[in-house]
Amino acid sequence: MIPIPTDGKRKRVFIRTYGCQMNVYDSDRMADVLRSLGYALSESPEQADLVVLNTCHIREKASEKVYSELGRLRDVKAGRRRNGGDLTIAVAGCVAQAEGEEIARRQPAVDIVVGPQAYHRLPQLLAEAERRSAFRRAGKRLPGAGVLDTEFPAESKFDHLPAPGGVRAGAAYLSIQEGCDKFCTFCVVPYTRGAEYSRPAEAILQEARTLVAAGAVELTLLGQNVNAWHGEAVDGSTWSLAWLIRALAEIDGLARIRYTTSHPRDMDDDLIAVHGEVPQLMPYLHLPVQSGSDRILEAMNRGHGRDLFRRIADRLRGRRPDLALSSDFIVGFPGESDADFDQTMRLVEEVGFAAAFSFKYSRRPGTPGAALADQVPEAVKAARLAALQTLLAHQQRAFNRATLGSSVPVLFAEAGRKPGQMLGKSPWLQSVYVEGPGSLLGRIAEVELLEAHAVSVAGRLTSSFEAAA
Ligand code: 5AD
Ligand code: SF4
Repeated sequence: MIPIPTDGKRKRVFIRTYGCQMNVYDSDRMADVLRSLGYALSESPEQADLVVLNTCHIREKASEKVYSELGRLRDVKAGRRRNGGDLTIAVAGCVAQAEGEEIARRQPAVDIVVGPQAYHRLPQLLAEAERRSAFRRAGKRLPGAGVLDTEFPAESKFDHLPAPGGVRAGAAYLSIQEGCDKFCTFCVVPYTRGAEYSRPAEAILQEARTLVAAGAVELTLLGQNVNAWHGEAVDGSTWSLAWLIRALAEIDGLARIRYTTSHPRDMDDDLIAVHGEVPQLMPYLHLPVQSGSDRILEAMNRGHGRDLFRRIADRLRGRRPDLALSSDFIVGFPGESDADFDQTMRLVEEVGFAAAFSFKYSRRPGTPGAALADQVPEAVKAARLAALQTLLAHQQRAFNRATLGSSVPVLFAEAGRKPGQMLGKSPWLQSVYVEGPGSLLGRIAEVELLEAHAVSVAGRLTSSFEAAA
């Protein structure tokens, strides 16, 4: 074990998180592990003894950011060493998993490389890095570069990590599922996060109760394929996500439930029904479709066509008429023609989205898509992305406008940019600004939505909160 420093000074760790909410969750769990080793959280790398980069590998740009940050950290480390100090650098997350050896080669200043399935082994890895550092100070060298752990261990990290402490202003993430067996041909996730794994229902319910007791009023269930979750229940039967949501809705004090990210193929009837049945389940669903062309969906190995997506959207809205949909889109997948792209634009028009993320296809080494011959030129991708984003931005604004005049519960997550302003989330995950006191933080209050902006809405607290405050 890494000793808690005895010189009276607590060691400090800075964790930088890239990418998706799974990484945000994992960073919290790493912080929990490190806290149990005596580390305090630091606000900047400059004040830290240990820096952890929790990395994302989903698109090329995300990976490249990591290497440039590592270059910066190498300089900080070199400066420290000149003054007799040191800095331990750890790379975690999906770049660590996918490019472990490569990281050590490209940036020898890195001490630890740890994949997403091995975070519970951080204490041992730090101890090993510490041993190496002691050897270095004594003028000796251990063979090899840094410390590398990118195994997919047989034991689950969930059974070995300390209880979570990650409630932020009333909201918390809860990881229920990891990994992916779907192998979309553009995607690195099955390689970086490994095979699909569902946590047992009771472990999830227990974690949920702990989080609610610690002040969470909103839980977002996380998984790369969250609606593929199927877990063992206490009575030995297998639950689907629909049943897990019903059980979570029984927890007193839990006002809001969300889940992300889903796959259309796993949107079964029961899960769709739950949207009309459980009031705590928020009327917002992120359901990536990627493309509106059947031909491209097939080449992407998505396992469904545009019609199935449309039918799911209709059925969800049949159960929950105010449901807002968001999605992910990729433009310029190999072989995508103008006509294919047009199908995507038309699907967007037909379905209507409240929010969306859209990306140019990024060729990821090792995925089947990278080997396809018919790569789309960069300029074509850029033009398509611009057209799609214009349409999606227009829809987001229209959605925001359509909500004006309604009064909705908003969970306040942070102070706004201007003094006296607070920022929260509506049930439809809109960012909502109000004039209001700091005491709103972590609380749900009724807000009348008044003014729509591109990516946010301004509102005003209704008197019911002022009376309650
Ligand atoms: N290129 C572009 N976008 C990608 N995504 C995943 N892999 C790639 C890639 N190679 C997008 C998908 C996914 C989101 C998380 O990232 O839209 O849903
Ligand atoms: Fe990637 Fe497809 Fe799995 Fe989503 S479903 S994580 S896009 S392989």
